[in-house]
Amino acid sequence: MNLQKTIQTEAEAAFAAAGIAGAPVVLQPAKNADFGDYQINGVMGAAKKAGQNPRELAQKVAAALAGNAVIESAQVAGPGFINLRLAPAFLAQHVQTALNDPRSGAAKKAAPQTVVIDYSSPNLAKEMHVGHLRSSIIGDSISRVLEFAGHTVIRQNHVGDWGTQFGMLVAYMVEQQKDNAAFELSDLEQFYRAAKVRFDEDPAFADTARGYVVKLQGGDEHVLNLWRQFVEISLGHAQAVYDTLGLKLTPADVAGESKYNPELQNTVDDLVQKGLAVEDSGAKVVFLDEFKNKEGEPAAFIVQKQGGGFLYASTDLACLRYRVGSLKADRLIYVVDHRQALHFEQLFATSRKAGYLPENVKAEFVGFGTMMGKDGRPFKTRSGDTVKLVDLLNEAVERAALLVREKNPSLSADEAAKTARNVGIGAVKYADLSKNRTGDYIFDWEAMLSFEGNTAPYLQYAYTRVQSVFRKAGEWDAAADLVLSEAAEKQLAVELLKFEDVLQSVADTSHPHYLAAYLYQLATLFSRFYEACPILKAEGQTRNSRLQLARLTGNILQQGLELLGIEVSEVM
Ligand code: ARG
Repeated sequence: MNLQKTIQTEAEAAFAAAGIAGAPVVLQPAKNADFGDYQINGVMGAAKKAGQNPRELAQKVAAALAGNAVIESAQVAGPGFINLRLAPAFLAQHVQTALNDPRSGAAKKAAPQTVVIDYSSPNLAKEMHVGHLRSSIIGDSISRVLEFAGHTVIRQNHVGDWGTQFGMLVAYMVEQQKDNAAFELSDLEQFYRAAKVRFDEDPAFADTARGYVVKLQGGDEHVLNLWRQFVEISLGHAQAVYDTLGLKLTPADVAGESKYNPELQNTVDDLVQKGLAVEDSGAKVVFLDEFKNKEGEPAAFIVQKQGGGFLYASTDLACLRYRVGSLKADRLIYVVDHRQALHFEQLFATSRKAGYLPENVKAEFVGFGTMMGKDGRPFKTRSGDTVKLVDLLNEAVERAALLVREKNPSLSADEAAKTARNVGIGAVKYADLSKNRTGDYIFDWEAMLSFEGNTAPYLQYAYTRVQSVFRKAGEWDAAADLVLSEAAEKQLAVELLKFEDVLQSVADTSHPHYLAAYLYQLATLFSRFYEACPILKAEGQTRNSRLQLARLTGNILQQGLELLGIEVSEVM
């Protein structure tokens, strides 16, 4: 059910009937439901162009619209807006179709694409910290929405498993004489810090470390072996975090920087051969005219360092070739901190010129802001350390457990534990996903765990309210004819039918907060409906109709939250 498009088609026909065929309709959901369900704003522009009186023209369009099967009424307002009210029978019919559809009315895409999405992608030298949270959560949700729409989604966890820091870690392992025995790394963070201290304080150690980087990249078996153990342990830590978070990422999605090592030289050579990369004080550089540096000269995208070493950019070029060439991507998505925006713009520009990124392949940088503490500064522990993700998630579940016990002391221990997990993890995810990702956002336990307002607990609770209606409902008829008579019923029905439109906008823009805002609005309208229209006390057709609305609301809340990576409980 593509509601927007259905109305758009009606409006276009009415525009044609009024003599302004092809003029942009500019259709929007109404801001105030007292005036209608949708609003057409395109008449004023069309009137100006045609030299006509906008209100008169709007009258003509409205007359052509009113009374068809989709639109019940069309009213001209202000200088020439048209407020539309949708026909109850049309709404009822589509609500019922959605109710009988396991996808709740959101159809799959007719032309599925192969989408490669790069998210989470932590550097493995350290344990995962809050800096990795946003990419993981946002990327996971986008990947779910795309998959639900029917696209082939290939998740790529581009972990930083290559480069200088690994020479340092290997050197430290050797120094600690841990290089021959199998070792344990219970605390990666501590290990990294100790190695870094040695690296900074002792130039001989630093030299040794750099020597190991060369050996590692040259394929030395002993060093590779140490590196492998390190990567394995580190990835184990990351996977544990993914599992706790309930992400779709698995070990099979790991495609780290090291994977592209064999292709780095080829790629640079190819850029040189194509005349794109040139020698510049010993380094190989692609000059990009469309990006100016501070001096107003073309920006330099460095693809190989002086002395032959490779960089982040070299790896991303080889990686992009792989994603387009071997994975056959139609669309590339990179969910990365917005501080890397320029890197990706230059990566895409270079790749277009080199022919690695053909015109029909879309490349998208999905940036996000920083997670801040309540003090408005980047989120840290009290002592100023970066917060480990494991600790943060444990705290979320513990805090939620207290709330859940308070709210419903009668839950069994199992139910309470499961619900605490859903609420705690859900709250952390939703706090992030409900904000426009491009801004910084403030991490605030009290706000995200509140049962009021635009939060996960509020939505999860709304779902359990629906479920409790059905526990009490007894016999009812899900296939009975649906009638919509009350305003609160109609408004809820209109909102229910927007599910596909919303998912489409998330898929198009990679902005999960559209879905969050929709679910919040849906829960709010349900709550109004629930207060205005008794469900269980009603009788006959009214009762069945209201139960049908409630059923579809529950289904969409559950499905929508799942697409945000959030689970619901049956009781709370
Ligand atoms: N490992 C990088 C970091 O932590 C992010 C990698 C993003 N993906 C990429 N293809 N460059 O900053």
